[in-house]
This record gives sequence, C-alpha cells and structure tokens, in this order.
Amino acid sequence: MQQHKRPPSSLIFIFGGSGDLNLRKLSPALYNLFLDEWMPEKFGIVGIGRSEYSDEKYRERLLDGIKKFSRRKEEDNGKWAEFSKHVTYLQMDAEDAGAYTAIADVVKEKEKAFGEHPNVIFYLAVAPQLVPDIAGKLGPLNICADTKCTRIVVEKPFGHDLKSAQELNHLLSTMFDENQIFRIDHYLGKETVQNILALRFANALFEPIWNRNYIENVQITASETVGSESRGAYYEQSGALRDMVQNHILQLVCMVAMEAPVSFDANEIRNKKVDVLNAIRKIKHEEVQDYAVRGQYSEGWMEGQKVPGYRQEKNVDPQSPVDTFAAVKFYIDNWRWQDVPFYVRTGKRMQTKSTIITIQFRPAPNYAFPPEAADTWRPNRLTISIQPEMDIRLRFQAKRPGQNLVLSPVDMIFKYDDAYDEHEPEAYETLLLDVMEGNATLFMRADQVEAAWKIIMPIQETWESRAPVDFPNYTPNSWGPGDADALIARDGFNWVTLPPPHEE
Ligand code: BG6
Repeated sequence: MQQHKRPPSSLIFIFGGSGDLNLRKLSPALYNLFLDEWMPEKFGIVGIGRSEYSDEKYRERLLDGIKKFSRRKEEDNGKWAEFSKHVTYLQMDAEDAGAYTAIADVVKEKEKAFGEHPNVIFYLAVAPQLVPDIAGKLGPLNICADTKCTRIVVEKPFGHDLKSAQELNHLLSTMFDENQIFRIDHYLGKETVQNILALRFANALFEPIWNRNYIENVQITASETVGSESRGAYYEQSGALRDMVQNHILQLVCMVAMEAPVSFDANEIRNKKVDVLNAIRKIKHEEVQDYAVRGQYSEGWMEGQKVPGYRQEKNVDPQSPVDTFAAVKFYIDNWRWQDVPFYVRTGKRMQTKSTIITIQFRPAPNYAFPPEAADTWRPNRLTISIQPEMDIRLRFQAKRPGQNLVLSPVDMIFKYDDAYDEHEPEAYETLLLDVMEGNATLFMRADQVEAAWKIIMPIQETWESRAPVDFPNYTPNSWGPGDADALIARDGFNWVTLPPPHEE
C-alpha cells in the first residue's frame, strides 16, 4: 500500500443516519477508506436519526448496506469488527432544538477519549426541505464557532431554485464561514472527472487546440436506464433539469471549458469554474424552445421487462408535467468558446447508462485527397467516458491497408483498467476524505451554486409556465424524444453515442 498521511482525528455526525444515502454511499465509502488506511488514527462516526436502534442493531444495518453496495463486497479479514467499534447511534428528533445538546455531549466525550479536539463534521444526508432547519439549529452550538475544525456538508439539491439557494446560502453564512461549508456534487469526486484537469493541463498536446479555432462542438450525455423508482416524491419536486443539469452537468461543462488554473488551490479552481458559469449565455424565456427540449418516459420495455411510465411510478401524479429528460444547447460567451455550441442531455430510462463527454474538432481540409478516399472521412473527436466505461478515445483518420488510397477513422483508446492496477475509489470516498482534510477544491462554493441556478431558471420557469402537451414523449430504452435529435440536427450535428463494449 502507498505511504500516505492520514487526515486529522475526526468525529462525523450523519443526519439521516438510517437513510438510503448513508446505507448506499456514505458508510460503504467510510468503510473503504478504513480498509485503505485513509481514516484518521482516531475517529468516530455517529448516525443520527429518529428511529430507535441500539448501537449494535445500527451497526448491523450498516453492515447490510456495505454487503450490498460497497465496491469491496467479499473482503473482511475481521476488519468490520474493528471499524464498527467507531460507529455509534444517536436517536434524536432533529426538529427539536433542545435535543442538540446531546451532540455537544458526544463531542465532549470523544474529545476526552481522543485526548485532543477532533474535526467535527456534520453531514446532512436528509431531505432537502430539512436542511435549513437542521443547519439553523446546529449553528448556535458553540462548537460551530470553531471555523478551523467544524464543518458542515450539504448534499444536493442545494435549494429548489435561485431564490431558495440564495436564502440557504445566506442562512449558512450567518452561522458558518464559507470554508466550513462543503456543498457536495458527487460527480466532482469521480476519478474520470478529476482526470479531465490532468488531460487538459498536464499535457502539451490538447491545450493549444482546446478552443473555438479547432473545436466545432462539445457534447455531454448523462443517460440512465433506471426510472424514478422509489424516489417519486423527490423527483416530482425536481425533474431532470434540476436533478442533473443544474449541478452535475454544468460542473462537467466547467471542467471542459475552464481556463488553466494558476494553482490547485481550492479558490483558484473554483474561481476559474465560476468564470465559465458566468460566461454561459442566459437563454431568454421566449427563446427556450430553440435551446431546450424536455421529455418524459412512457411505459414500455427494458431488457425484456415491462416497465411503468413515469406517470405510473410510485408517488407520482398521474398527470405529472415533470421532465425525466432534458437536452439543452449552451453557448459560452468568452474568447475561448464564442459560438461553439455545448449540447448536453440527460434522461432516465434511456438505452444505456453512460456519461460521456465528446469534443468534436473541426474537419481538416481534405482537398488533397481524391473524393473516394475521403468518403468515410470523419473529423477528429476526443471522447471521455466518465462511466461506467472509464476510458478516453481519440478518433483520427488512417489509410486503410491496400493499394487504393482509402481513409477511414480509427480510435486510439486509453482504458483505465488496462493501464492501472489500482482500484479507483468511489466518488464519496474521495469527497469524504477531502472533508476530513478540509480541502474544498471539489466542492461547490456559494457563488457557483447561484451562478448555475441563474443559467437554469429561465428554462425551468418557462417549462413550469407551459404545461407540456406531448408528455409522455419517449419510450424506455430509447435516446429520448425526437425533438432532442432535432435540436442538434438543426445545426448539422448528431448526438454521439458509444457502441456497447461487446460490439467494439
Ligand atoms: C443524483 C441524482 O444526483 O445522481 C439521481 O439525484 C441520479 O437522480 C444520480 O440517478 C446519478 O448518479 P451516477 O453517479 O449514478 O451517475
């Protein structure tokens, strides 16, 4: 195992301790950090919830989650017993301000046991509407005045719209310093997403051509095969534009489009990203139909199974106008990107689960080649597969072997799995480690969140003011509504979709 410095002692309180996010993501991530010896020498994890659990029963529940969802399923070697000693459960009603003294008591107790004052981390893994209330009740605790050691982690969605995001930012700012607030966007913790910066700025090859002179368009697809499933109640308040575009996808746009940072300092990286968001052209309400397409899935078939339409899902209004698919064309008005369209799309119940970024370069002049040689000519293209495949491929022209001069495109492919033996950590492992280390580079700053909402609001408002007349407008196992194809086809392009791995 590589030598590394562990983070300082930490005490992590998880609000929503018996909830889904903790079971599926947070506890498995903390356990994997422990197995990889990334947890501090001294740490405590306290699940907070309303339900009644003994410490023992709570640990059993977390172990079930780890068995189902952790990237390491089999491995144990007695490590769970060692890890679980650090986990306790605190039953409390988070709406009761008086109950918060119990937290202060746990901090005191741990301070004594550790023989030092640890980082105190409050992770709010709760429904978005509970965040302001819990934050408001935590703020007055003395411990929160410790701007060095106390941190609060807020999950997405951060606000429901621009106004509520501004209000939440304001509320948090009255109780915490900005450097204590960690707004999570788990896409930023993905290895492949972080690698975009390495690809762009650690190589001499790409940066000189990474601009409007050489790039014709950029595409981002984040497609999922799942439907709204058990999350209907949340999704009814959200929809694809809020759930995926406002945060994950705009963050990917920032990674592709930002200027080179001067350093890897958290604020420097975030300054460069917010510059991109501020430069994204605001779509006027009356122009939304030219730039954005919404969709909702009908009932249909996925892998031989009949699946319900969105309107038939649990906790969903049978007339729901909520978008389960969104495609948008953005422009970034700055020197680097003026007039280069960025097409993004995301949807549930689509044909494959994949997140890919495509950089389409302008065609090379092909006048020197005979027409028949250039028949299959394709412009250069760089495709970054974020998930589930993790690879980068560069398409270029090659001469086919033989006496005739025939050109055809080929791919040069870098696959993470082939190139490296190390297992890539899950996004939440990276992000939780960063929180313990106090490194906010991969987290959203207040101004970034608000800038992202400003971009989305005209589209969201226009969609909400006009009920969709054609919903449901795409079938499961498809690539979304035909209008999304038309959006890009109008400009002479088409969406890039990678072939499934077995067809390569
Ligand atoms: C979440 C959204 O933020 O991201 C979900 O709320 C979505 O609706 C999920 O399914 C996708 O994450 P990933 O990592 O599976 O691409």
